[in-house]
Amino acid sequence: MTPPTITLNSGTTIPQLGLGVWQATNDETERAVRYAIDEAGYRHIDTAAAYGNEEGVGRALAASSVPREDVFVTTKLWNADQGYEPALKAFDTSLERLGTDYVDLYLIHWPLQDRDRLLRTWDALEKIAGSGRAKAIGVCNFEPHHLQLLIDRGGMLPAVDQVELHPHLPQQEIRRFASEHGIAVESWSPLGGTSNSGWGPNSKPNTLLVDPIVTRIADRHSKSAAQVLIRWHLQNGLIVIPKSVHEQRISQNIDVFDFELDELDLSELDTLDDGTRVGMHPDEMNIGAPA
Ligand code: A2P
Repeated sequence: MTPPTITLNSGTTIPQLGLGVWQATNDETERAVRYAIDEAGYRHIDTAAAYGNEEGVGRALAASSVPREDVFVTTKLWNADQGYEPALKAFDTSLERLGTDYVDLYLIHWPLQDRDRLLRTWDALEKIAGSGRAKAIGVCNFEPHHLQLLIDRGGMLPAVDQVELHPHLPQQEIRRFASEHGIAVESWSPLGGTSNSGWGPNSKPNTLLVDPIVTRIADRHSKSAAQVLIRWHLQNGLIVIPKSVHEQRISQNIDVFDFELDELDLSELDTLDDGTRVGMHPDEMNIGAPA
């Protein structure tokens, strides 16, 4: 079954399930994206300038038999390119690497700590949206206080806020705030992160895929732990972008539309909320910020 879509505040529709490619090389990304689109039925790819694999995504899009306009492509502005002119330039470079003349969604990767520069960066994204070269614009890792800055400014609101989100960190406050303002929430590290995550100062490595509660629910449904976690995101109305470079896992991760978690499953998963992050808290993040 094709994943359902969500309509963003820009009017654009986004497939609720996509493929993430963080920490994959260009060659791995090209193979994974090609397989995901042509064999597994994905129509949504999430990359970023900082991942260093936009070219791999571009090569896969060019080689695929699926037309470009049928695939939802997201990329992100890296921290070092915040500011008005730098953001416009970085966007052009991303398009070149992706080999496309538009993206479906362009996101600010981190808010960082300079609020004036952040607002100038948002001005640039608004200009890009106005030109039609990004069908929608949005943000990542914005806490409610960052979103409030854009709300107070007037103008366009982000179509999405992509944040670290999984059963250990369900981000209820961000979800409530975003929903009040018509902003969709996307989950990064939806399976609890990559095997070597735990990169924030207070973060821990991923244990969700081997968590006894998750694996017990998976056994009850004869599904994998990853499939249970993906259902949890879908049933919570979140946009979810599990990463894998392995064909069998890429297929497995989209094969989640023939079962549903019941109330008991969902309430058991809710008990996993302990605030554990695999990444950095956005208020602490300033890596790569311009001088
Ligand atoms: P790999 O690419 O080697 O398959 P995230 O939470 O950021 O999406 O991270 C997913 C992590 O879990 C990646 O390290 C990925 O590694 C791995 N992974 C993805 N899908 C599955 C799956 N179905 N079963 C087990 N591990 C998975």
